[in-house]
Amino acid sequence: MTYRIALVKGDGIGPEIVSSAVKVLEAVGGRYGHDFQFTEYLAGGCAIDACGVPLPPETVAGCQQSDSVLLGAVGGPKWDTMPGHLRPEKALLGLRAALELYTNLRPARIFPALKGACALRPDIIDRGFDLMIVRELTGGIYFGERGRREGKYGEEAFDTEAYSVHEIERIARVAFESARKRRKNVVSIDKANVLESSRLWRETVHRVAKEYPDVTVSDMLVDNAAMQLIRDPSRFDVVVTSNMFGDILSDEASQITGSIGLLASASLGATKCGLYEPIHGSAPDIAGQNKANPIATVLSAAMMLRYSFDLSAEADAIEAAVTAVIDEGWRTADIATDATAEVLGCAEMTEKIIDKLLLAK
Ligand code: IPM
Ligand code: MG
Repeated sequence: MTYRIALVKGDGIGPEIVSSAVKVLEAVGGRYGHDFQFTEYLAGGCAIDACGVPLPPETVAGCQQSDSVLLGAVGGPKWDTMPGHLRPEKALLGLRAALELYTNLRPARIFPALKGACALRPDIIDRGFDLMIVRELTGGIYFGERGRREGKYGEEAFDTEAYSVHEIERIARVAFESARKRRKNVVSIDKANVLESSRLWRETVHRVAKEYPDVTVSDMLVDNAAMQLIRDPSRFDVVVTSNMFGDILSDEASQITGSIGLLASASLGATKCGLYEPIHGSAPDIAGQNKANPIATVLSAAMMLRYSFDLSAEADAIEAAVTAVIDEGWRTADIATDATAEVLGCAEMTEKIIDKLLLAK
């Protein structure tokens, strides 16, 4: 089979980590007899520099015509002072909207060998955790009405959180469907004690829940959820939440896995064409120095194989190779400890993963 993959490397460490994932995909393709064809498109700060806009129309069209998109990261200090509509982050939001990727799956689990890199107490980590954050991705405050206006005390700015029943229903269904394939438990996170949009969210989630009597559902306020995630992450299976709460909680969840450099994500919509990216940013401070951890992007490529191409054996093989490399003690700087004898760069970590892939039965 031939699969056309659009590569959006972006800024900062984006090019390094996407190149790593491409090498891993090529190794998988060679091994399992798939032809992955890659086409690069510009988005983010590099697109602003080259074309004056963060998301050129050719990038949107190219991604729409591909079978899937692999994205590195966008943004950096160079473009931080650009006006809102010309910021690199607009590229990401624009792509998510253009491809109608309303679901963002962000799995977080502990690699047993990385317990030492985790910030939580050993007795908490020993319970283990494996959770799936289902984040709504094309609605809420990220896409609501915003602007500046004259207020009582002079200039003010506003952003609006708005959710329709339709948007909540479809993301709730994704959460219940994923729970069915896991431990059949959904925690819906909102701020229903204050926000009307959260009250509609809660009502709607519970109505959809009736279609899934085999799945247990409960609600949690977002402030409490932020606390429970570090108090006892083992209690969570599937978490479903709004765009902004999901953004915040997924960074928190990443840190309890040991490093944000480990967390992959899949953005999905109604078609098989998804967008796969690490949840971390462009890390401009370490860009171009071969210091980035490629694992989150490599695992995002695995998610692409699983969710967009239905290649689960191949996805399993990548995940097993990553786990094996970590089990053997190989570490990039972000997950290294005092006991790490040799800290690997991005390229060397990639080679280790590929070696394992090619060796595995
Ligand atoms: C993420 C990022 C983005 C988001 C930014 C870069 C716009 O933080 O994917 O989590 O907030 O969605
Ligand atoms: Mg984020």
